[in-house]
Formats: sequence, C-alpha cells, structure tokens
Amino acid sequence: MSPLDEYQDLVKKAFDPEAFRAEGHATIDLLADFLAASNPIGRPRVLPYEDPGDMLKSWADRFGALPRTSLPEIFKEILARSNDLLHPRYVGHQCTTSLPTAALAGLVGQFLNNGSAVYEMGPVNVAMERQLVGWMAGLAGWGTGADGVFTSGGTIGNLTALLAARQAMAEKNVWATGVAGEPPIAILVPESSHYSVKRAVAVMGFGEDSVAPVAVDDRFHIRLEGLESAFATAERAGRRPLALVANACSTATGSFDDLESAGDFARDRGLWFHVDAAHGAAALLSPKYRSLLKGLEKADSFIWDAHKNLLMPALITAVLFREGDRSYETFSAKASYLFEKTAREEWYNPAHRTMECTKTMMGMRLFVSLAAYGTDFFAGYITSVYDLAREFAAEIRDSGDFETAVEPESNIVCFRYLKRGEADLDALQRRVRRTLLRRGDFYVVQTALRGHVWLRCTLINPRTTISDLKALLGEIRAIGA
Ligand SMILES: Cc1ncc(COP(=O)(O)O)c(C=O)c1O
Repeated sequence: MSPLDEYQDLVKKAFDPEAFRAEGHATIDLLADFLAASNPIGRPRVLPYEDPGDMLKSWADRFGALPRTSLPEIFKEILARSNDLLHPRYVGHQCTTSLPTAALAGLVGQFLNNGSAVYEMGPVNVAMERQLVGWMAGLAGWGTGADGVFTSGGTIGNLTALLAARQAMAEKNVWATGVAGEPPIAILVPESSHYSVKRAVAVMGFGEDSVAPVAVDDRFHIRLEGLESAFATAERAGRRPLALVANACSTATGSFDDLESAGDFARDRGLWFHVDAAHGAAALLSPKYRSLLKGLEKADSFIWDAHKNLLMPALITAVLFREGDRSYETFSAKASYLFEKTAREEWYNPAHRTMECTKTMMGMRLFVSLAAYGTDFFAGYITSVYDLAREFAAEIRDSGDFETAVEPESNIVCFRYLKRGEADLDALQRRVRRTLLRRGDFYVVQTALRGHVWLRCTLINPRTTISDLKALLGEIRAIGA
C-alpha cells in the first residue's frame, strides 16, 4: 500500500461511524462503572497520588506506543490514576464534581466543535448563552438593560470585567491609546480576594502597585473603615481610585462581603463596583441562602463560575454587566473579516465582547443540564451543601479536639486539629495534609489564615454526607496519633 493509500485507510477508520458507536458504548460503560464505584467501598482512594516525575516518565515512555494502545485500555488507566472528583470524599478545591448529564453535553459539544466566536460557528450555543445571561442577570435583580458574555474561567472573567471598568472610567479610548503616560490609578481590592484580581490589574498595565488593599475583619469580610482608609491612602499617594472589588464569596474561607455597604461606598465615591461572585453567585438560586448576596444588584459587573458551584465541567464563567452596553466597550478592537455591523447590532457574535475568539460550547452544557433537571434541583444542591458545611462546623465545635477558623457562610470549611500536647500546630496540619494526600482516601487542601496553617474543605459533591466528614475527622486523629 502506498503511504497515501495507508493514510486514506486510516481516515476511513478514524471516521467510521460503526467503530465510533462501538468505542462510544464501551467508553460510556467504563464511565458508568467508574461512577458506580466512586465511593469508599468501590474505590477507597480518591486520588492515587504519584510523584509528578514518575507520572511524567510513565506517559513519556508510552508516548510513541500510543497508536497501538486500545481506547478502553488507555481510558481505564486515565481514570484509575486521576483525581476522582465524583467521589464523596473529594472535599478539596472548588472545582466541582461534574454532573454526568453535563459531561454528556460536553461530549456532544466537543463532537460538534462549534467554536462560538461568531454566530455562524455556534448558532445553538450562542442563543442558549444569551438566554442564560438573561436568567442570571434576573436572579441578580437586574432588569432587561443588563447583558453579559460567557468566558473561559473566573480569571479571564475578572479581567474582562476590570477591562470594562477601565474603559468606562477613562476619559479617552484606553483600548486605542493604552495607559502609558496616564496618571496612576488605584483599584480597591480586599486582602481576601483571589489572586486573579491582582493579576488582572497587572495584566492591564497598571502594575500590581495599583492594587489598594482593603483590610478585612476577623471573619474575612471587608471592613468599612478599611474602605475609607484604602481610598484615602491611594489619594494621598497621588492615585485616582477607579474601582472597588468585593467578594461573594472569598476563596479561602467562603466569606461574603457586605455588598450593600460596599456598593453604597462605590456609588458615593464614583467607583466602578465589581463583585467576584465566581464561587458564591450560585447561592442566588437557594431561597434559604440568597440573602448572602443582598446588594449584588448595586454592582456594575459580577462574575459567576458554573464550574464551581453549579456542577458544570470546567470551564464556564458568566461575566455580567448591569448596564449591558458596557460589555460592548470592553474590547473595541475590530476584526472586520469577522463582523459586518456595529458590535451592539451583533449581540450574536460573542467575540466582540470576550478575550477569546474560539470558545467551547460552554453555555450549552449548563442550558441542557437546567433543561434536564430544572432550577429546583440546583437550588436544592446549593442549600444542601451549604447546610452540610454548617453541620460539619457544628461537629467540629462539639469534638473538643478540632476548631474552625470561622463559622462557614458558604460550603467552604477551614479547620484544624488541636492534638493535645502538640507544640507546633502548624507543622501538625501540614503533616496531616501530606499524609492524607499520600493515603488518598480523602482529598483535602490547606490554606494560610492569620499566619497559621488550616485544613480546608469545599463540600461541593452532592453525594458527600456528614458520615464522610466524621470519618475524615477520625482519620486525622489517627494520623495525629
Ligand atoms: C473567588 C474566585 N475568583 C476567581 C477564581 C479564578 O477562577 P478560575 O479558576 O475559573 O480561573 C477563583 C478560583 O478559585 C475564585 O475562588
């Protein structure tokens, strides 16, 4: 066979519908079995941790051999060696367990590969995202003037919102002329903010020195007098305060800032008010917990990550603007080969308003999941994981040998083991975390608060129960002993 014939034969095989059907069925069977075994009895280890160098070597050794590896064989191995976010004892970072339906929607999206930069390249997804933006803005208490876009992750989401703030507050077209030679500015950012906010400020060319830190209280909420003093300090340093960022909720402890007071402060001082609600916006769905976001309606912009608390596979972030027109001013770069009309007339071409050109069909995954289960399912999910955090905190309080860093407000719980007679509690928490990682039967992370080390759990899996968490405390005691 000539090389060309060989290639054409391979193309036929790669796109053979019957081979795809057989591999697809086998793969779904594999995933269903994996899901069925995602529990402490079926699979005792959440993360079978391997040294990064060993992991790299094992795949590097097999790279050239891959064409001879059957798909089920390699998928089985990928599953066995990965972090199992479907496991009820995955209680680590804020990346959520995937709703299996959303993963199926993801497969359909990857299969179609409708990039969604422009309407023609993703007509269904573009319309679905438009619908979702209206739904989310409505939950925030905004009217029909609001608008927004989907983008890949909270980091890009915060940057997109702050770029809009920069353009809105500027006296000229900064997109065209840049910030060089401009008087220095300040962006007020709580000390508890995610690092992506500082990074966005640096990326915009303002320099990290433009971040005016706002002091937080002992529960990690913005201090109102901290706002006054950050504003005054910035002005004294010859900087023009431009925007205020608040958290709903903060990454480390899940603390919700007082958005009403922060929003009033921003309005009174003429600041753009951005709320990083990447993690906490989903609480808008819960009748029991939505009051945590009181005041969100005062924001000029906020972000909402569906891959944090809406059970969506990463990445899917909504960036929402109270005055929807702002979203059209953020990126005023023109790409005439893509667009025919002005940006506003072309709401259906998202690339006008996002950092990215091509994106995955992200909104489709959420739309399909909402259509399959209804909003009440997601409301129930938020209420139950927030309730579970409170129950876990009560268990910790009653234990006598653990303490929480703060009473949880969301589904994030920071705590530590107070082993009797232990001189160095920080070293103990580090040792506990390292041992948990090595044993693998729970996935827990750690954070630094008030100069000390704390264990940190995000209760993000709807199948985690209080018994799992009691077992975790038991395991930590055993490690301590
Ligand atoms: C409050 C907050 N904002 C932004 C981000 C960044 O989001 P992403 O990881 O999707 O870029 C995170 C991530 O944990 C976060 O907790």
